Amino acid sequence: MRARPLGRTGLEVSEIGFGAASFWGHPAFPEDEARRLIDRALDLGVNFLDTGPAYSRGRAEGRLGRALEGRDLSGLVLATKVGTRFDAGRVRRDMSLSGIETSLERSRRRLKLESLPLVHLHGPSVEELTPDFLGGLEQLRARGLFRHLGVNSFDPAVIEFALSLPGIDTVMVDVNVLRPGRLPLVARAAEAGKGVLAGMPLAMGHTAPRRLRDLRPSSVWYALRALKNHRADMVLGRRFRFLHDQPGITGAQALLAWVLAVPGVSAAIAGTTRMRHLEENLQAAGLSLPESLAERIAAEQARD
Ligand SMILES: NC(=O)c1ccc[n+]([C@@H]2O[C@H](COP(=O)([O-])OP(=O)(O)OC[C@H]3O[C@@H](n4cnc5c(N)ncnc54)[C@H](OP(=O)(O)O)[C@@H]3O)[C@@H](O)[C@H]2O)c1
Repeated sequence: MRARPLGRTGLEVSEIGFGAASFWGHPAFPEDEARRLIDRALDLGVNFLDTGPAYSRGRAEGRLGRALEGRDLSGLVLATKVGTRFDAGRVRRDMSLSGIETSLERSRRRLKLESLPLVHLHGPSVEELTPDFLGGLEQLRARGLFRHLGVNSFDPAVIEFALSLPGIDTVMVDVNVLRPGRLPLVARAAEAGKGVLAGMPLAMGHTAPRRLRDLRPSSVWYALRALKNHRADMVLGRRFRFLHDQPGITGAQALLAWVLAVPGVSAAIAGTTRMRHLEENLQAAGLSLPESLAERIAAEQARD
């Protein structure tokens, strides 16, 4: 697996990272299957894994910690979040410094790490990123609770603001074929020396035709999530169905190759619950997108 520098952190990350989130971390997905996926991802060269205390009804981070038990973690970049947690049936926000300190302590315990390699603020507002708040985070960093700090947001204004902050090392944004508008932002982030992590690189599955007869729990769960939260993306995704009908490259590989060709992207963080999909996705590292396909994607993106 090819590796790329993560901005100015000094870290090298595998082009494709593993998203330890969504249905992978869900209690309804068997833990031994979740662990087998992690084992295989690491064996195939993945060194970047992303999770968060609020993911998968609060189960993903602990599951990742257990899946990594007995492993040498020194070469891995484990990224988690602060500012959200799952509590009493729902995701709760807490961007206070004391809440973040508690969250860091819990993540260190769950991931069994003295110091967390990379922590992203999960959806902060511009107003919350005050000098006092950022100074407080530097004190937590100086105590060794974490080493690198990033911002994860789908709000371009928040990311734009984060680029001006010297204490922010990385940004995690949604980069996929449905979001061509992110490209200038990614370029500015890289220019500012920030590592860029592409979340949802497979467009959450919205470009693939959904098979009504596929009733496996993960497929039903992803379909329900899409209906509940992402109807506009489902409609947009239909324009890119042609990606799943190409010779020599699968739809997922085309989606990942497109993301990895975006100048400034360090790694694409893909989520999956299927071994076949994992192996297919990891084969996209180093693949170049055929020019004709890149042109067709650009033409669809330019429409309307
Ligand atoms: N979603 C968010 O709101 C969010 C927010 C912040 C950060 N992130 C980060 O981004 C990561 C990825 O996000 P995500 O999981 O929501 O979206 P994603 O990686 O873009 O897409 C996941 C979907 O693609 C399917 N898939 C994966 N490989 C496939 C393949 N080879 N062929 C066909 N379908 C395939 C998965 O189904 P199968 O399980 O069946 O493979 C699942 O339905 C997360 O794990 C997290 O680390 C996400």
